[in-house]
Amino acid sequence: MAAISPLPIRARSSLPTYPNGWFRVAASGDVVADAMFPVTYFGRHFIVFRAPDGSPRVADAYCPHLGAHLASHTGSLKDGTITCPFHRWQFETDGGACTKINYTKVIPPRARLKMYPAVEGNGMIMMWFHDQDAEPDHQPWIEPRLADEPWLSSEPMQWRMHAQQQEFMENIFDSAHILELHNSETLPRFVSCDDHGTGMTIILDIDVPDPEYPVSKCINHYSGISVTVQHNLSRTENFIAISFTPVDEETVEMNARIYFKDLGSDEANGVFGKMFTERWMFEVEQDLAILNHKKHLERPLLCAGDGPIMRWREYARRFYSESPAIAAE
Ligand code: FES
Ligand SMILES: [Fe+2]
Repeated sequence: MAAISPLPIRARSSLPTYPNGWFRVAASGDVVADAMFPVTYFGRHFIVFRAPDGSPRVADAYCPHLGAHLASHTGSLKDGTITCPFHRWQFETDGGACTKINYTKVIPPRARLKMYPAVEGNGMIMMWFHDQDAEPDHQPWIEPRLADEPWLSSEPMQWRMHAQQQEFMENIFDSAHILELHNSETLPRFVSCDDHGTGMTIILDIDVPDPEYPVSKCINHYSGISVTVQHNLSRTENFIAISFTPVDEETVEMNARIYFKDLGSDEANGVFGKMFTERWMFEVEQDLAILNHKKHLERPLLCAGDGPIMRWREYARRFYSESPAIAAE
């Protein structure tokens, strides 16, 4: 088949580019003491680092003095102090205040890094992003069992998606694609869909689990439209921490990691570990092959059996400063 020439997202979707909410900016293990971890999201540069007590911090990467990238050249973080490589202003890593300028005793009162709220959980560091700089109105769902119990984890998985942020998460509400695109033998049944304002918990039952994908119940905890923790149950269980963070106007980074119960033998772990991971990754690739070219239809033509897609869109629209209109034919 001939290749499709890509169209920019804005030509395929009228949804606002960046939603508001909590977004993964690093894996927990990426950010160590005494080091800045530079990242690019929302078309901007940020640095992720740890305060002296180990808690995560996210700041604009640019020095408030004359705009040097703090992690460029000889920029450093040592003993709780970030030193800019350009004129060597120093900033403390708890709140970002400037503490020293070598060539003056008068520190400008506004000399402070621009910090963003940050939390850690589900194996990742998340920052609060709001396009109008509003404070967080909720906290993300943190699955306590991931921190409290031992898990075998998959390798970290990452994809670059050329579709608007909310498209991938609409997937789970699109029941028909599970049969028709993923060739699943059974259709998950929506048991409940609990919308609690800034998050959503969706429970699905799968009556006859596919032997290659042995899940009989799937509980999804959504935080906004950017992070979800999926709890899959069968004879055993796993959690999948999934996140979507816009890199710029054309790219969304998807990250995922699967946490498995140790079943005590390589053979048993292989069935619900390696096999599950391979199947899950295969289905993500199938989804992306569609989503990277898909148009967001504001008025989709839905039929019986399509799943509660508009319920998802009703939920998703509240995470934009200007809510998009929603309607189905
Ligand atoms: S730009 Fe950072 S100290 Fe001047
Ligand atoms: Fe899918």
